[in-house]
Amino acid sequence: MSKFEPSQLPNLAGQVAIVTGGHSGLFVLLPILQNMLTKSSGPGTTTELLRHGATVYIASRSRDKGEAAIKLLKLEQPTADVHLLICDLGDLESVKSAAAEFIQQEHRLHILVNNAGVMCTPYSETKQGFETQFQTNYLSHYLLTRQLLPILMSTAETSPKGMVRIVNVSSDGHAKLAPKEGILFVDKCRAKDVSTWTRYGMSKLANILHTKELARRYGASGVIAVCLHPGTVKTNLSQGPRNSTPLYRLIQPLVELGAPGPERGAWPLLWCAASSTLTVEDNGSYFLPIGKKTPASKSGEDKVLAGRLWDWTEKELANAGV
Ligand SMILES: NC(=O)c1ccc[n+]([C@@H]2O[C@H](COP(=O)([O-])OP(=O)(O)OC[C@H]3O[C@@H](n4cnc5c(N)ncnc54)[C@H](OP(=O)(O)O)[C@@H]3O)[C@@H](O)[C@H]2O)c1
Repeated sequence: MSKFEPSQLPNLAGQVAIVTGGHSGLFVLLPILQNMLTKSSGPGTTTELLRHGATVYIASRSRDKGEAAIKLLKLEQPTADVHLLICDLGDLESVKSAAAEFIQQEHRLHILVNNAGVMCTPYSETKQGFETQFQTNYLSHYLLTRQLLPILMSTAETSPKGMVRIVNVSSDGHAKLAPKEGILFVDKCRAKDVSTWTRYGMSKLANILHTKELARRYGASGVIAVCLHPGTVKTNLSQGPRNSTPLYRLIQPLVELGAPGPERGAWPLLWCAASSTLTVEDNGSYFLPIGKKTPASKSGEDKVLAGRLWDWTEKELANAGV
């Protein structure tokens, strides 16, 4: 499926989507305004979903950035049905409120893209005391998904097969960087003794295990869960390793050699979110760009580990009072 382009997506009118981190990035038709916003693969996804007629909720921690993005999107697409959902993945209460607000506004949800993330940031903890990468990339997306599963499932009941999807944006770093045990089940995932790269790999492995366990537990509901590595894309994600790892500043040009910018970098996400060539048979799958179904790492395919992570996550969320 390597020949995919967004023009191949079906008409998405009537479908409702949430994209976390969907507020910033390149707007192809508005080059002069590009510099007003930071780069990320979220907006490429948002823009194309809107162009194909979907209603899109941008889940962002920043009202200013979210509103600025909506203004720009409306310049390109004046009738775009685009909304802002304040959702700080560094605060579990904010995630819960975002889900509750969405459910108040809408009766259906067809596409949930768990895209926002941080990479290899210096060690820090969130409001609830979890390691920041693990909560931002995985735990908060687990919670957001859990809160939205009832609306996803009821939407699936009245939608064509394969239409209702959860897309978890992982990384091939799950295989290269996670520890050999897979997940280090330490209190609040405060794995201080390992490198920030290992913590990133672990959070991205958790995205994959989450996807596969979702597919096992909710496969019969008609909701599809898939995950992907979007490829190397030139975005703001590199700020993390640039801040934590001085050597990264030297090798960054090599790492990003030939990599696309965020707008094209969003295509693999779009394929997972809305392509009609992805079907119920793909539930639980991991994809490389674009739409290449691939086994995840040994840990990523470990069913026991996936079940253990699910139970551990539920316990940690309960301890955190959410
Ligand atoms: N770029 C790559 O080469 C690459 C490769 C493999 C996987 N990925 C994955 O692709 C996804 C998107 O990354 P990207 O490359 O687009 O990175 P990016 O440009 O840094 O964008 C990340 C997005 O996440 C948001 N975010 C960060 N912390 C947040 C928080 N606490 N609450 C809410 N939103 C938060 C950011 O919002 P702010 O503007 O508020 O910071 C931004 O919109 C990530 O999951 C990443 O792991 C990317």
